[in-house]
Amino acid sequence: MAKISIDPWGYFSVKDYDELIGQFGIEPFTDELLSKIPEPNKLMRRKVVFAHTDFGRVVDAIIQKKEFYALTGIMPTLEQIHLGTKLVIENMRFFQEHGAKTFVLVADLEAAATREVSLEESRQRALDFHIPAYIALGLDPKKTVFYFQSTNEKVKNLAFIFSNKVTLNEYRAIYGNTEPARMMSSILQAGDILFPQLEVRMPGVIPVGPDQSVHILLSRDIVNRTKSTFNFIPPSGLYNKFTPSLDGDLKMSKSKPQSCITIPDDINEACKKIRRALSGARKTLADHRKYGAIPEKDMCFQLLAQHFIEDDKELKRIYDEYKAGKMTTGEIKDITCEKLTEFMKDFERKFEKAKKIVPNLKFIQ
Ligand code: TRP
Repeated sequence: MAKISIDPWGYFSVKDYDELIGQFGIEPFTDELLSKIPEPNKLMRRKVVFAHTDFGRVVDAIIQKKEFYALTGIMPTLEQIHLGTKLVIENMRFFQEHGAKTFVLVADLEAAATREVSLEESRQRALDFHIPAYIALGLDPKKTVFYFQSTNEKVKNLAFIFSNKVTLNEYRAIYGNTEPARMMSSILQAGDILFPQLEVRMPGVIPVGPDQSVHILLSRDIVNRTKSTFNFIPPSGLYNKFTPSLDGDLKMSKSKPQSCITIPDDINEACKKIRRALSGARKTLADHRKYGAIPEKDMCFQLLAQHFIEDDKELKRIYDEYKAGKMTTGEIKDITCEKLTEFMKDFERKFEKAKKIVPNLKFIQ
């Protein structure tokens, strides 16, 4: 039995990623596992991906060029996405480029049940904003299957059937509460996660932030209990760290707007926030030159590592110079602001282009 519970819709109370390892079937993302992955992306190389569930199965499928799938869901509550979502999309892109059948669903029923967003509003916002944003962030629309929960009969039917495989006590132990709307949403999410296997029995990976890991556990339990009917392969999970709040907290959150950058964002405002972000530099310049900075504690360095610098050598150069006290905190903030500006402008361009192709997308029913 897990020692902690996770509320995917509420406050994430875990203080440290290590607390999660060993719970809910979450295993550490080791160097050994990393070494088996063909052309790992920067999130894997830099251990922004910190844990997984049964991911070896997916790595084998990639290496042996066997069929597998990757799936993620969009929660269309606001016309913006947070940087954590960008990490998930980057992992989705990695799987897509390595042969995964790719599924992106709009969680309109979940948004209606848990966030009081109407189905119409969800649909419109997903078409106007989220779907083009996901494409702008690198998903190939020609190779991605999109659907809405509310119009996917198969997913809803699966959820109904699964509902008889979960007990209240189990649910309470994992999620910490038993609100019917949330229970329905997570069982529906198990429907999303397993739906691709109605067509082809294959391994699948769900890249998520750690707050969503419990949904994967539930889906895996359901797979075990529906063996005789469905015989699904248990889905794998890949977990990325959150992007930290600019004040140093574990997770960037809109409840602290001064420490949060969204996509899109006002570039000038975002750069002002970067200027005030928690720094890993010493208190005085003299000390800084003498002892050097602590890049691990510097939120700008974290942003560069998680989001804005692809090239490992370039990142290492910054790390080394900053740590040695040669680069100042002002300089690392300049670099971060410059890279962020470049990213936001590039995003805007790609977003406008992606919007034009949304009317041609086919959604499965
Ligand atoms: N619950 C997810 C969120 O809050 C959305 C979602 C629904 C999802 N179904 C999914 C995510 C399946 C991953 C896989 O963002």
